[in-house]
Amino acid sequence: MLELKGLSKHFGGVRAVDGLDFAVKKGEIVGLIGPNGSGKSTTVNLICGVFPVTSGTIAFGAHDITKAPPHQCLSLGIARTFQNIRLFNELTVWQNLWVAQNSAKHRKERGFLGRWAGGRGQARRSVERYLEFSALAAKRDELAGNLSFGEQRRLELARALAAEPDLLLLDEPAAGMNSEEVGQLADRIRSLKGQGKTVVLVEHVMELVMGVTERIAVLNFGRKIAEGTPAEIQANQAVREAYLGTGAKI
Ligand SMILES: Nc1ncnc2c1ncn2[C@@H]1O[C@H](COP(=O)(O)OP(=O)(O)OP(=O)(O)O)[C@@H](O)[C@H]1O
Ligand SMILES: [Mg+2]
Repeated sequence: MLELKGLSKHFGGVRAVDGLDFAVKKGEIVGLIGPNGSGKSTTVNLICGVFPVTSGTIAFGAHDITKAPPHQCLSLGIARTFQNIRLFNELTVWQNLWVAQNSAKHRKERGFLGRWAGGRGQARRSVERYLEFSALAAKRDELAGNLSFGEQRRLELARALAAEPDLLLLDEPAAGMNSEEVGQLADRIRSLKGQGKTVVLVEHVMELVMGVTERIAVLNFGRKIAEGTPAEIQANQAVREAYLGTGAKI
C-alpha cells in the first residue's frame, strides 16, 4: 500500500532521512521507532507532502505521491496526527470533527449531487461514530482548547479518522499520556485494524509499540538499522546500541 524507496531528506548538512526503503502492506499496523532526531517525524512529513523530498520515491497504492502536496495526500486517503497537538482550539470538539469529515475522501468521490442527496446526514452520523470511538461524546460542545491534554490527543486521533483515511500516520500519539490512557489508546489502535485501516505508529512509548504492532522498522541518523517483529527488535543488538544512553527501555 505504501512504499518508500531510497527516500532522503537533507536539511543543509543534516541527513534527516537517508536512503530509506520501507514498505507497508494494506491492513498492517507497523511501528517506526528510533532515538530522538533519527528522522521519524521527517519521514511522516515526507509521506504527507509537507516537505519536498531530496531524493527517492513514495508510492501509495497505484499513485506516485513523491511530489504530492498535503491536500492531495489527504484526498488519496492518508491522514496523520502531529507530535505537537494541532487542533482548531477556537472550534468545538464536534466542529473539529465536522471540518475533518468534510475533507473525507469518500465525500470527494461522491460529488456534489451525492452530497446534496443525504450526504450531510451520513456525515453527521460519521462524526457521531468518531465521538463515541474517542469517548468524547460528553465533550462535543466544549472548545478544543479547553480540553485536557489526554482529551486533545483523543480528539486528534478522531479528527484524523473523520477524514476516512485508508492509511493513518500517528506521530507519538501516546506522548504525555498516563499508563491507563496508553492502554486505552492501544485498544483503539488495535480496533482500527478491524476497521480495515493501515497504521504507521511513530512512538517512544515501547509498551505501546511492542503491544500493538506486527512489524517495526528502526531508524538511527536517518537510516533504517533494523526491521522485524517486536520480539526480533527487542533482541536486536544494533537497536540496543542505538538506544544506549537514551534511557529508553526496549
Ligand atoms: N525543518 C527542519 N529544518 C532543519 N532541520 C530539521 C527540520 N526538521 C527536522 N530537522 C532535523 O532532522 C533530524 C531528524 O528530525 P526528526 O524530527 O525527523 O526526528 P524524530 O525522529 O522525529 O525525533 P523525535 O523522536 O525527537 O521526535 C534532526 O536532526 C532534526 O534536527
Ligand atoms: Mg519526531
